[in-house]
Amino acid sequence: MTRDGNYFPGEPDLSLQGEAQVRLHECAAAATRKQFGKKVFVRAVVEISNFCRENCTYCGMRRDNASLHRFRANAEQIAELLLRHRPASVTDINIQAGEDPVAVREVVLPLIRMLRRETALGISVCLGTLTPALYRELREAGASIYIMKFEIGDPARYREFSAPGTLEERLQHIRMLAESGWNVSSGFIAGLPGQTLTDLQQNFAVARSLPLQGCSVSPFIPGDETPLATAAAAEANWTLNSIAALRLMRPDWVIPAVSALNLMEPDGYRHGLAAGANLVTMNLTPGDLREDYVIYQRDRFIMTEERVLKVLATQGFEPSEIGLADYYRGRTDKKTDRQPGVTAAAAA
Ligand code: 5AD
Repeated sequence: MTRDGNYFPGEPDLSLQGEAQVRLHECAAAATRKQFGKKVFVRAVVEISNFCRENCTYCGMRRDNASLHRFRANAEQIAELLLRHRPASVTDINIQAGEDPVAVREVVLPLIRMLRRETALGISVCLGTLTPALYRELREAGASIYIMKFEIGDPARYREFSAPGTLEERLQHIRMLAESGWNVSSGFIAGLPGQTLTDLQQNFAVARSLPLQGCSVSPFIPGDETPLATAAAAEANWTLNSIAALRLMRPDWVIPAVSALNLMEPDGYRHGLAAGANLVTMNLTPGDLREDYVIYQRDRFIMTEERVLKVLATQGFEPSEIGLADYYRGRTDKKTDRQPGVTAAAAA
């Protein structure tokens, strides 16, 4: 069931509780161990702009939120931070922003070039839907992983929540990125207001159809200053079962434990790892900027190095010495019969 990826979650799996739920999560954790051993990928995220041209109903950074002080970070300052003050366990950097093409040109591209000149760190970007030319520039600068969440797998619900463009466009961008050599990770939101089990299950059909290397499950957290501010947060069981189901559906995918799991329930992050997640992220955004990077609430749960390492140890995991970008590169090289390292040398 877990080896060939034939598993597809039934609705009952997604709403399991009690003993049966424990068994589902153990099965997923066993699949993770079989594929990745005790190793969990550790990356750092830097949030470099909270300008956003999108207006997703669920997101605190939506353009209609006039109460947010908007910022763009300084590339040199962030590079300095990442080059001099990066915790030793970090192998990869994820550069994240609202959908802000100006920040891509003025901050992200120079930052990637500075990092590429001085380090072998893997570089992921999560920057929204951009032009093919910008994607190419990012790739040429040295990023190799694009995170593009499809958010909501049902086209009507996608529209209803004003997610970026249309679902079809979003999926086309994911396919286009994968075809042009990016390793693509996607993701969806569990527990949006009114979401049924059938809606939740549909996300798995979409994820399964895409050329991905990874996928995340974000629990819906009502965002301050959004039209959904008073809605209920995601049901923890559905969210954690979704992580386990993703793992069983695609044993080889990289599945992050997102920090919002801890806003959903105390210990949510640890439960995410116990249900099959194998990537953790520590937040290195400078404190003064971080305050205005508000997807959910001003009171964020910040994953520091200390918290990340502690939760890994509690679950019997160790930080992976192999970075995410290197891991993917090794897999691509195998598939295409290229020597590992050739692409690394070409990119350096
Ligand atoms: N709850 C959960 N996830 C959210 N995101 C944005 N707002 C919310 C929310 N209220 C996720 C989306 C988006 C990413 C930046 O954060 O998946 O792509």
